[in-house]
Amino acid sequence: MSTPLVLRTAADLRAAVAEALAAAGGTGRDGVQPPALGLVPTMGALHHGHRALVEAARAENDVVVASVFVNPLQFDDEDDLRRYPRTLEADVELLGDAGADLVFAPSEAEVYPDGPPLVRVSAGELGARYEGASRPGHFDGVLTVVAKLLHYAQPARPARYRAYFGQKDAQQLALIRRMAADLNFPADIVGVPVVRAADGLAESSRNVFLDPEHRRAATVLSRALFALQHRVSAGAPPDLAAAVALVKTEALVELDYFDIVDPQTLQPLPAGSGPLRKPALALLAARIGSVRLIDNLPLAPAAGEGP
Ligand code: PAF
Repeated sequence: MSTPLVLRTAADLRAAVAEALAAAGGTGRDGVQPPALGLVPTMGALHHGHRALVEAARAENDVVVASVFVNPLQFDDEDDLRRYPRTLEADVELLGDAGADLVFAPSEAEVYPDGPPLVRVSAGELGARYEGASRPGHFDGVLTVVAKLLHYAQPARPARYRAYFGQKDAQQLALIRRMAADLNFPADIVGVPVVRAADGLAESSRNVFLDPEHRRAATVLSRALFALQHRVSAGAPPDLAAAVALVKTEALVELDYFDIVDPQTLQPLPAGSGPLRKPALALLAARIGSVRLIDNLPLAPAAGEGP
C-alpha cells in the first residue's frame, strides 16, 4: 500500500478530497453512480479495531479519508487528555497499510480556532446514560467533533458519502446515527463489528494497560456476553442474572453496568419478558484494576421468535 497524503488543514483536506474524487472518475467504481467517499474518524493510537474500520471503508468506497485528532472536548479529565498516546507516525503507517488514501491530522487550533466552542451538539438524554453517566459532557464533545469532521470531509461534488464507526462503542454509534438522522447529515453511518483477540477480549487501546493476570480475568466479560447470546439464539429468555453471576465469579472484575437494551434507543428491555422478539444488545462496562473496559454483543431472536 502507498503512504497516504497527510493534510493538516480543512482547506487542504477539501482540495485533496476534490482531487481524489475527480481522479476516481465521474461515475465511480461501479460505472453508474457518482464516486463514493468513506470517512474513518479516529483519535489515533490505532489497533486492529481501527484497521477493520479502514478496511471496511476501503472495500466500499473509491476514496478513503481517515482522521487522527485527539479531541479535548470529549475528555473530562486533564490528565487523561495529557496521557492519551500520540503516535501519528505509526498511525499513518497503519492507515496506509489498511488502505486509507488521505489522513486528516489537524491541530487543536485548526479544529477549535476560538477555543472550546460555545455552541455544541447535545447528546441529550441518550448521552446521559451508561458511559455518559460517569462522564458528563463526553458525548456532547464526541458529537460536536464528529459533526465538524463530517463537514470538513464532505465532498463538494456529487458523491456518495459514508462514515465508519466501531460497534464496540455502541452508545457512541447509536448517538452518531441519531445525530446524522435528526440533523440531516448527508452521510450514511456504517457500524463495523467488534474485533476480538483470540481469547475473546474486545480490541481496545486500553488493553495494553492490563497485566497478564488482569487480562486473563477480563476475558470473563466476553464469555458472559457469548453465553447470553448463545442462550438467546437457542430460543431461551435472556438470563441477565446468570450472565452477571458469571462475571462476578472473577474477583478482579468490578462490574459497572450490564444490561440488555434496544440497540437504537439504549432503553433497557423489561426483565422477565420471555424469549426475545426483536434484536437487542447486551451492553456492559467493568473495571479491572485501574482499567475500565466496555463490551457488547448483539442478541438476535431465535428463528421463529420474531415479531
Ligand atoms: O471513537 C473515537 O475514537 C472518537 O470518539 C471519535 C469518534 C474519533 C471522535 O473523537
